Amino acid sequence: IRRPLILAIESSCDETAAALVDGNGALLADVVASQVDFHARFGGVVPEIASRKHIEAICGVCDECFDVAATTLAVPKLTWEDLDAVAVTYAPGLVGALVVGVAFAKGAAWAADKPFIGVHHLEGHLYANKIGAPDFAPPAVVSLVSGGNTLLVHVKDWGDYETLGATIDDAVGEAFDKVAKALGLGYPGGPAISRHAKEGDPDAIAFPRAMMHSGDLRFSLSGLKTAVVTYLNNERAAGREVDVADVCASFQQAVVDVQVKKARMALEQTGAPTFCLGGGVAANPALRDAYQALCEQMGVRLVLPPFSACGDNAGMIALVALDRYRQGRFFGLDADAQAHANL
Ligand code: KG4
Repeated sequence: IRRPLILAIESSCDETAAALVDGNGALLADVVASQVDFHARFGGVVPEIASRKHIEAICGVCDECFDVAATTLAVPKLTWEDLDAVAVTYAPGLVGALVVGVAFAKGAAWAADKPFIGVHHLEGHLYANKIGAPDFAPPAVVSLVSGGNTLLVHVKDWGDYETLGATIDDAVGEAFDKVAKALGLGYPGGPAISRHAKEGDPDAIAFPRAMMHSGDLRFSLSGLKTAVVTYLNNERAAGREVDVADVCASFQQAVVDVQVKKARMALEQTGAPTFCLGGGVAANPALRDAYQALCEQMGVRLVLPPFSACGDNAGMIALVALDRYRQGRFFGLDADAQAHANL
């Protein structure tokens, strides 16, 4: 066994996850229990349900994580006593959901007398790029796009981040979810929209590209969502049939155009040689293709997290925790969950 062995827990939204990393940065186990089916019938994540489901799932997820890691290492059993540290996502996210993971991890660290490490969720999404590309290293620009966040960050070094711009209203994933809801495509909306978009014409409907020419790196998504809803209402009122594929493709193209434009600006502004992505929306094929084209054109290295590591997972949290352990940067047991925290 290559030490340190660290177990990391993630519970910031609607995924209860645990992962075990070794001193080589190898993920010996990476377990995710998704609650998405419980939230789907409400059309979005219900915070109270998320908290309760985390409580139900967390012990089982950690047990499974130990079992999988024991099998990977070909040892009979692994327990909390075998660890060198316990890590957890402490911010940002739904505070009731975060509290479950934080309280559980602190309890486990205290009982087993192990150091406790708090990890920022968005730093986890950045580190997810290491899962597919172990040689990935700063300096870089990262685009973090999920259901709750949309920002561009200059990664000057590991742990040295400058936020270049963020959304002033909705997150990109939120826009996908709201548009999907308006189209009756269910929750989560991103995967459904990208599936339908493949069959549609991205130039069929001219939806707005907000902040395209703002000259800064901020985003705005709520106007685009309203434009789609207004279009749907007008078409329905006029008795015209809506082409769902065309709406999806045109909406997605409006998102991609602004994302790519701002990514180009961020790369020009920072001179960073590498661009990478993180968060649930990083799984969007059209966005990935557009960044591929941009980076080829600019001579910039593109690093993408594997599809399986775009959504919330604890593997990415474990990789951050490994760096913190090596730096000796631990949290006290008085640390708390936080809904908001700067990267
Ligand atoms: O990072 P994540 O799992 O957690 C939250 O921040 O909630 O991201 C989930 C978000 C959802 O809004 C979902 O619709 C979006 O990521 N998403 C996508 C795709 N897959 C997931 N958005 C666009 N295209 C996709 N293929």
